[in-house]
Amino acid sequence: MIFNKAPEAYLINDLIKQTKYLVNGELKEWTGKMTNVYSTISSTENYQPTLLGSVPELTKDQALEALNAASNAYNNGQGIWPTMKVGDRISCMEKFANQMKTKRATVVKYLMWEIGKNLADSEKEFDRTVDYIYDTIDDYKQLDRNSAKFEKNSGVHAHIRRGPIGVVLCLGPYNYPLNETFALLIPALIMGNTAVFKPAKLGVLLLSPLMEAFQNSFPNGVVNVLYGRGRVLATPIMETGKIDVLALIGHSSSANALQNSHPKSNRLRSVLGLEAKNPGIILPDADLNLAVDECIAGTLSFNGQRCTALKILYVHESISEDFNKRFCEKVDSLKFGNPWEDGVKLTPLPEPNKPAYIKALIEDAQSKGAKILNSKGGKVTDNYIYPAVISNVNKTMNLYAEEQFGPVIPIITFTDVQQVLDDMAESNYGQQVSIFGEKVNTLAPLIDVLVNLVCRVNLNSSCQRGPDVFPFTGRKDSAFSTLSVRDALRSFSIRTFVASKENSANNSILKDLLESKKSNFISTEYLL
Ligand code: G3H
Repeated sequence: MIFNKAPEAYLINDLIKQTKYLVNGELKEWTGKMTNVYSTISSTENYQPTLLGSVPELTKDQALEALNAASNAYNNGQGIWPTMKVGDRISCMEKFANQMKTKRATVVKYLMWEIGKNLADSEKEFDRTVDYIYDTIDDYKQLDRNSAKFEKNSGVHAHIRRGPIGVVLCLGPYNYPLNETFALLIPALIMGNTAVFKPAKLGVLLLSPLMEAFQNSFPNGVVNVLYGRGRVLATPIMETGKIDVLALIGHSSSANALQNSHPKSNRLRSVLGLEAKNPGIILPDADLNLAVDECIAGTLSFNGQRCTALKILYVHESISEDFNKRFCEKVDSLKFGNPWEDGVKLTPLPEPNKPAYIKALIEDAQSKGAKILNSKGGKVTDNYIYPAVISNVNKTMNLYAEEQFGPVIPIITFTDVQQVLDDMAESNYGQQVSIFGEKVNTLAPLIDVLVNLVCRVNLNSSCQRGPDVFPFTGRKDSAFSTLSVRDALRSFSIRTFVASKENSANNSILKDLLESKKSNFISTEYLL
């Protein structure tokens, strides 16, 4: 890659030394060990990673301090936050969102440097997250309006709402360090839960501009932010048994380990977005131009580092030569460069060991008979490996089974689509699939089976999470619980209600409760 210095607006002139962590409403100074944060993007002509700043390497003591703060703020459902009026919680969230919006430029700059996401996608991640907050507020208002009533059945009056569950441990992924983490944290908080939140291993500094907003928007202890290693911080937190909800986007091995650390698994609710290996199926009657474009976006947006990425392509034998040729030409035409450069589609990989991992997958596949189809495929630079399109992939190869989460595209040629369905049924993954074809007679029975193998069938379209109002979930090792603006509010809450047998005394008490407006729970107020 030709060295390109970042334009002035995107230069990191001062290192961010994030010496504070947020606990019980206080931004506490940490004087212990710090961890340097590097970008794999070079700032000099001779390649070397760029030092961006540093964050605290907190220990078990601070982890438990944060947990206690969250636990005290929840106070077994008696805290200010879980008993607050819905409208007041919403005001806190609006205060946070308004401050967050002012930090767009800084957060976007750090997204580019820390995880190598291109400018357009970094801006999209920020904007989509702000929209998610406002959409969540709107949906919560609607949920509240729908509950602002009494029901009567068999002589019992009931006022049914959704209430918080307790203390949430929130752990997000590095590929969407803002969006996916907030898509857990925001609904968890707005429903009245309190949280301990640890940023992902990469994409950490971009939260620094938001720390004061977290501090001044919510009551003390409602949000606590920790920095450090998951194993050091999250495991002791789980071992206390004080976590009520584990909200994690990451790998099932981490989720299982954390769930198993909880002494009372029956008390633990899990909201998990996990690994996936979404297939793209290209049928003989597919519109190949469209299929190629969608498969490029599906396999290589953010270098394939998306849980929803297409991670294996099944191409029908009758069109495979044509598809593979067109697909490879498109792959080789994609521009690699730093995230702020015009027209870049491929950007440095934020994990320093990723190029070597991808290369090892390719070499393992080659040693078992696979071939690299495109001319640039597999070329390694200091911080990248050019996407390789790999044909002749079979089940003995690591590339077949592992979620590569990076720029390499395995292709399997098939003659009978039942083979694809069998592979999907056998696989540990079950998030989404893309199917390309036009004949309804072929598509209809396939769709009827695919919807039972995954949770979203994308017709002539690449896989994706959005729009965020649609349910995002998966089967098997791919997810647990459903996320969407609406579903997340349900995932982080439980139905709870006040019931009273109908008689004149109870009726008059209920009337008084409503008219006096002394209860924050019992309310038929229409939230505007
Ligand atoms: O990493 C998984 C993300 O949820 C994918 O979201 O499909 O919008 O890129 P996306």
